[in-house]
Amino acid sequence: MPGRVFITQRIPEPGPTLVRQAADEVVMNPEDRVLSPEELRAGVAGFDAVLCLLTDRIDATVLEAARGCRVFANMAVGYNNIDVEAAGRMGIRVTNTPGVLTEATADLTWTLLLGVTRRVVEGDAEMRSGRFPGWGPFYMLGGDVTGRTLGLIGPGRIAQAVARRARGFEMEILYHGRRPSPELVALGGRGVELDRLLAESDYVSLHVPLSDETRHLIDARALGLMKPSAYLINTSRGPVVDEAALVVALREGRIAGAGLDVYEDEPRMAAGLADLPNTLLLPHLGSATHATRAAMAQIAAENLVAVLQGQAPPDLVNREHLEGGSSRTSS
Ligand code: DGY
Repeated sequence: MPGRVFITQRIPEPGPTLVRQAADEVVMNPEDRVLSPEELRAGVAGFDAVLCLLTDRIDATVLEAARGCRVFANMAVGYNNIDVEAAGRMGIRVTNTPGVLTEATADLTWTLLLGVTRRVVEGDAEMRSGRFPGWGPFYMLGGDVTGRTLGLIGPGRIAQAVARRARGFEMEILYHGRRPSPELVALGGRGVELDRLLAESDYVSLHVPLSDETRHLIDARALGLMKPSAYLINTSRGPVVDEAALVVALREGRIAGAGLDVYEDEPRMAAGLADLPNTLLLPHLGSATHATRAAMAQIAAENLVAVLQGQAPPDLVNREHLEGGSSRTSS
């Protein structure tokens, strides 16, 4: 049953070792760079399993080039980079890595929230440039966090981990999701309509997957509902926010600031964003800890190996699309 595996980019141990122990042959792109669409199509051809990353755009043309492949194991919790429906139709399983990056991403959400509110990066720049004029009663004032209202959009694991930390800051927690979240309610959260959350929160933090429904969920209208003193934090996916509209809202002081880890067109960002002092901009670091990335590589490898061995992968994400398609392994 085992077969040949293609890994689209160098990944941390124990991922490669786990795959090598199970596969007949492993080819790993040795370079620390994303393959071009042409390279990707050529790379996946003839392999039984592919371990890919969120920066690989796995569209129908790549899946077509991989015909006969049994699984694309994505080393990410998000899988908006893969056309899961087309994969299902072709009998290709798609898996992700849920759970293991929850705490690291929640930590980074809080890094952004505190950092942008208390102007941490601006302050650091003052010190390094020698511009610090000495303590002053009006010097570099920021917002308050303790006791304020946190609005979580998307009630999943990461939102819950963010809410757990918010309790230490005695915050009121609002959340919006498609269904009630007993976990967030147990943490003191109150489920509300989206517009109410936007209007009442001092911090709006995004924790939704990217889909047709969530693309540009935070547009000019949504930003217009937020308080002028409120901050937007995004550690989910860039296209959830209309970045051009955000630049306008920040420039015109319609909201107080934004802490962003993800962008609409990564690795680029909207014109004007970098010129705004009321932003804290990080380069997609949510899961970027040594232990988290190792755990993600391990889970991705375990999912891939399960399919190679004819078993059900623990983190299958396209079950409903496969059921209508021609499944190649039993699960
Ligand atoms: C994911 O896994 O989807 C994250 O964005 C990686 O940082």
